[in-house]
Amino acid sequence: MTRTLTILGIESSCDDTAAAIVCHRPGEPAEILSSEVVGQTALHADFGGVVPEIAARAHVERLDGCVERALAVADIGLDGIDAVAVTAGPGLIGGVLSGLMLAKGLARSRGLPLIAVNHLAGHALTPRLTHGTPFPYLMLLVSGGHCQFLLVQGADQFRRLGGTIDDAPGEAFDKVAKLLGLPQPGGPAVEAEAAVGDPKRFAFPRPLLDRPGCDLSFSGLKTAVLRARDTLVAAQGGLTRQDRRDICAGFQAAVADVLAEKTRRALAMVADVGLHPSALAVAGGVAANTAIRALLETVSAQAGVPFLAPPLHLCTDNAAMIAWAGIERFRLGLFDDATVSARPRWPLDTTAPALLGSGKRGAKA
Ligand code: KG4
Ligand code: ZN
Repeated sequence: MTRTLTILGIESSCDDTAAAIVCHRPGEPAEILSSEVVGQTALHADFGGVVPEIAARAHVERLDGCVERALAVADIGLDGIDAVAVTAGPGLIGGVLSGLMLAKGLARSRGLPLIAVNHLAGHALTPRLTHGTPFPYLMLLVSGGHCQFLLVQGADQFRRLGGTIDDAPGEAFDKVAKLLGLPQPGGPAVEAEAAVGDPKRFAFPRPLLDRPGCDLSFSGLKTAVLRARDTLVAAQGGLTRQDRRDICAGFQAAVADVLAEKTRRALAMVADVGLHPSALAVAGGVAANTAIRALLETVSAQAGVPFLAPPLHLCTDNAAMIAWAGIERFRLGLFDDATVSARPRWPLDTTAPALLGSGKRGAKA
């Protein structure tokens, strides 16, 4: 399939309503004609996490406007679209259904092919959208809802080398921020405090480093932070600014160390099977963390593998990645019909053992 493709992507699996138009001429870099993202942070702010029912209703209210804006910004009508690609999972069922129903309606009414995309495949294929990265490459997905190492060998060929057995790292950053009275989302707030803290004052655990492989765990680390806070509060009646900074620095250093060591192992696992990955790519909001990113870059350089971090707005949830995954699937002749279901859980690698846990941002696959 070598013709130019222009695809509408729709994403609504968590708390971002998004629509995008991506165009690809074979042999040329992909062009993002538009990428609209409407977040819901304010709607969930009072609840300490994403409320699935509120998220689903907001998606229903906003999806059609979002698609209209994506078409308008791209200066294109539905008659200029070759297919509709939509996230069909994993994620919060109400949100996924909202997007999938809209996509089915659009495809059916305009006689367009429908392409159901796994949200994780969208993240995992982003380096090809932004940099044309050749297969195979290693992807570390680190966000508020996901944490896994994926060996990406083809547009429909993923091997999960490991993942979190409980919380995602972004979720841990958010919970630690909450424990310390810092604003949400916690990642940037904790990073700012950590920058002026002493990472050595608190000896927080590095969970699962004693276990072989590259599965990860962050819930024990969060509990250790809770204990450290409670001990200080019991002893001195509260936290000083410096206490807060030192806790953040210790916590961030622990997350960075764990991610770095597990990345080292994932790279070694890939080398062990005789593969030479074209890159170590990162995606997800946590990849914005300067300290974590710097450590991952070092690990990558030590393994002689180029490090790749797509621009942040394409690392976090968006619909351009879904449109791009749609382009890749279109070229492989992988289409769906109106019977395709929303899948709240949908592992990319069906051969990998199921991971435990389901966080506040939805089911992890
Ligand atoms: O990929 P993302 O935007 O959304 C989903 O998870 O769906 O990731 C958001 C997560 C939040 O948990 C946020 O606290 C975390 O990424 N995050 C960070 C930083 N910026 C955002 N974590 C650590 N350091 C940061 N600078
Ligand atoms: Zn995501």
